[in-house]
Amino acid sequence: MMYCMLFVSFVLINFSQSHIIQATKSINQTCLNFGHANDCYFYKCFEERFPCGSTYWILKWGEKYCTRMQKFLLNFDKNGQELIKKISICLTNKLINLRYYTMNKINCEKLQLAGQRIVRECYMNNSNLFCKALQGKNRNCFFELIDNEDRHDLTIVRTLLSVGQTCTPKQKLTDMRSTGKMNQCISSPMLLT
Ligand SMILES: *[C@@H]1O[C@H](CO)[C@@H](O)[C@H](O)[C@H]1NC(C)=O
Ligand SMILES: *[C@@H]1O[C@H](CO)[C@@H](O)[C@H](O)[C@H]1NC(C)=O
Repeated sequence: MMYCMLFVSFVLINFSQSHIIQATKSINQTCLNFGHANDCYFYKCFEERFPCGSTYWILKWGEKYCTRMQKFLLNFDKNGQELIKKISICLTNKLINLRYYTMNKINCEKLQLAGQRIVRECYMNNSNLFCKALQGKNRNCFFELIDNEDRHDLTIVRTLLSVGQTCTPKQKLTDMRSTGKMNQCISSPMLLT
């Protein structure tokens, strides 16, 4: 039984590590322009070229939160809005500059790790703004945007811990939690014109 489980997990690990897929669409300049323009549609394009699936970074994190942050941007004050914009631009630019979109094939696992690393880098590079934005309704509205299961994601928790350490005074995870006053955050999407 024990051996059997070891074998199964070995196979699963090997399987997941070799999740390499070929580009299914040609490089599309319009899509690259979306990325440079910080348009969330870039992630859709990316996924069309490399369909890693909904459990991987591009859809599960990149596209989902890009779209969501943009929809609810007006829930945040000036600093919060600036932080969201800076982080979004940082993410798409970094994905393009590291040439992930233009590769011929991609390892979905590695892309996942790269996504997590880039998120961390983008938050750390905007740590001043993060510390300034971490107050009032921003906290609550930010918290509300994040899916419950994602709030417990270890890489996100670690990223938030690291950024919090750069603030004066240092901010712990409990300082980033919602105070429960969700009435400051509208929960239906804003219509952006
Ligand atoms: C490039 O992507 C855009 C947006 O998805 C699409 O409208 C266009 O047809 C694509 N062009 C090519 C050559 O595939
Ligand atoms: C963060 O800043 C460093 C130093 O300025 C730079 O080398 C790096 O590329 C930046 N990272 C991102 C993701 O913008």
